[in-house]
Amino acid sequence: MDNQIPDINTTPTKKIGRYLITAALPYANGLKHIGHLAGAYLPADIYVRYLKAQKRDVVFVCGSDEHGTAIPIQAMKEGTTAQAIIDKYHPIVAQNFADLGIEFDIYHRTSSPLHHETAQAFFTELNNKGHLEVKTTEQYFDESKATFLADRYIKGTCPVCGNADAYGDQCEKCGSTLSPDMLINPVSTLSGNAPIKKETQHWYLPLNRHEAFLREWILTQHKQDWRTSVVGQCKSWIDGGLQPRAVTRDLDWGIKLPDSTPGINANDQQKVLYVWFDAPIGYISATKQWAADHQKDWKPYWYAPDTKLVHFVGKDNIVFHCIIFPVMLQLHGNILPENVPANEFMNLEGDKMSTSKGWSIEMEDYINDWVKPENGGESMADVLRYYLTQIAPETKDSEFTWKGFQEANNSELVNIFGNYINRTFVLMHKLCKGKVPPLHATLVDATDHQLVAEIKAAAIKIESLLEAYKFREALFEVIDIARKGNKYMQDKQPWMVAKNAVIDGQLTPEGQQQIDNCLHLCLQLAANLAIFIHPFLPFTAGKLCKMMKVVPKMLEWENAGRIDLLKVGYSLREPQLLFRKIENEEINYQLEKLKAKAQSATTTIMESTQEAAQATQDEVAIAPVSPEIVFDDFAKIDLRIGTIVAAQKVPKADKLLQLSVDLGFETRTIVSGIAQHFAPEAIIGKQVTVVVNLAPRKMRGIESNGMILMAEDSEGKLHFVHPSTAINNGAGVK
Ligand code: MF3
Ligand code: ZN
Repeated sequence: MDNQIPDINTTPTKKIGRYLITAALPYANGLKHIGHLAGAYLPADIYVRYLKAQKRDVVFVCGSDEHGTAIPIQAMKEGTTAQAIIDKYHPIVAQNFADLGIEFDIYHRTSSPLHHETAQAFFTELNNKGHLEVKTTEQYFDESKATFLADRYIKGTCPVCGNADAYGDQCEKCGSTLSPDMLINPVSTLSGNAPIKKETQHWYLPLNRHEAFLREWILTQHKQDWRTSVVGQCKSWIDGGLQPRAVTRDLDWGIKLPDSTPGINANDQQKVLYVWFDAPIGYISATKQWAADHQKDWKPYWYAPDTKLVHFVGKDNIVFHCIIFPVMLQLHGNILPENVPANEFMNLEGDKMSTSKGWSIEMEDYINDWVKPENGGESMADVLRYYLTQIAPETKDSEFTWKGFQEANNSELVNIFGNYINRTFVLMHKLCKGKVPPLHATLVDATDHQLVAEIKAAAIKIESLLEAYKFREALFEVIDIARKGNKYMQDKQPWMVAKNAVIDGQLTPEGQQQIDNCLHLCLQLAANLAIFIHPFLPFTAGKLCKMMKVVPKMLEWENAGRIDLLKVGYSLREPQLLFRKIENEEINYQLEKLKAKAQSATTTIMESTQEAAQATQDEVAIAPVSPEIVFDDFAKIDLRIGTIVAAQKVPKADKLLQLSVDLGFETRTIVSGIAQHFAPEAIIGKQVTVVVNLAPRKMRGIESNGMILMAEDSEGKLHFVHPSTAINNGAGVK
């Protein structure tokens, strides 16, 4: 038998604690990029693998979001039908996740009949209980296409930032959530025509009735345990005034309103549920499908108060998962999320990631280029998982660079982790005949004790960081204990003992015992490293199990910190290379490829914007340079980097936002005149440059303690001045 852990884990796996983990359902309208992966799917997968290693009862659900206007719009672009689009992308995206080791218990579809029934029943339940309001309003209508223009079917100028291409539901430039009525000069994206207004009836979720509940539940109960940026964004929403939100649309793509709905008019245009009403219910239907497939009961996962529901999402999904869906869940009698550990955004090589602009790395691209046998195979999936976790945008936006990727691989995975494992196995084969050597108690010294203490401490620390959704720090601890292993080996130098503790050409018994002790402990650390790295790099953990000839059961968390995992005398396999070095040429190739892709995606747009920029450049009067100052004048200004952790409008002031800025040493209130340029919820998590020693100033009764630096472009638009890559708050600017 391969399992060499004799007297542990012989009892059947007993599961404790019940968890339902969700990762945002991606729209099945195209490929997904590594920013999506880093935002929701990878942290969710790490957390789930950890929970499963803890033998907790976990179901991890995800699937395709197949309704809304994004799908038919993509169909128009590809000259096909909405159904063809979802049928094309659903399996591709599912396979991409699988190739990168994202292991859902189910990857469901919101187009499934089970989901349609579940969403309709949910709607009916809320409606019958009087939790929805019906209103007739005038909405934009495209006469030439005889269609109401919801969400992405309508475009116009963003009232917040002036972007001329804002959609009816959102401005992609400033992040504001919009409604068609807010757009300036709206036009139909179907025909390009200016719309008319027409009466229509819709069902609304009156969020305004639930303000007290939301305040109490988020801003009081979860103030401490939810991420600051998540609480901050919720606060901005609640303080901004909650409005009834339409949960139905006049569209022909989506889940039909149940025929039994009172007041529904048969001659009316077809009405469907709003995509953001049906999609999160997709988590429930996915759970139902999973339960049916495994002869389980789905209900405890959505009704039992001791179930922990955790939603992993990117920051653009916060309001839906923290405010709207919880209100729906509560009215429907379900449990509420325990946490919504949303991530900020991950930029790419100095710019926002965007598939449409070609400035992105699709999961599919990465898999095709790296995850093939001749390039490193599965271990390259782990390299991506490693780097994305190392730079996870948990508290602020972060940045993927190909150089950083290479560096993380070469100097941490290859030089620290891989090197430690390789040395341990090579020396064990060379100096201990390929078998786990015994530990000779009389020779155990302080260095050995220290290593053992460090292994135990690492297990505890990694566990508590993972429990707190601090994946980045947890991974750091894993590498740190490998680093300590390397140092231990360097201190012990078993190869020197083998050379020096020799009499008459023979290694002395004591010399052999010293070598045994060193390698015994090094191997126990290697077994622990397999357990620690497993949630993050599952393929690598699998390889380690093979090398140590242990079954995957050894990876269960109760073994973490144990130093008797590998049995004395057991023979282990030859070392296998875990990671390979990444060469400069490979990185340069990727950089070129990215540039070429962006170029071809935006050639037309670029030509016109370049011309426009040139034209404005010709006309723009650039402000003259101010009178000269001496260095000491400049040195008086203390400039620091900080992160905006909360933002809200200042009442009765059009221009002012009240910000809380985390400066590393403290969090300050700063009032800034940028309300006409940025939506409060869209700037949370942004890094900014702050004058921190400016005398306090009162504005509208609020004391402002500092000033945010802004760059003003030729059109009078404001831009934050921030470091090219996310850095620690409090960093000085000189
Ligand atoms: N499809 C949405 C997006 O990509 C996410 C939906 S999450 C769900 O932004 F909760 F609605 F499922
Ligand atoms: Zn905008």
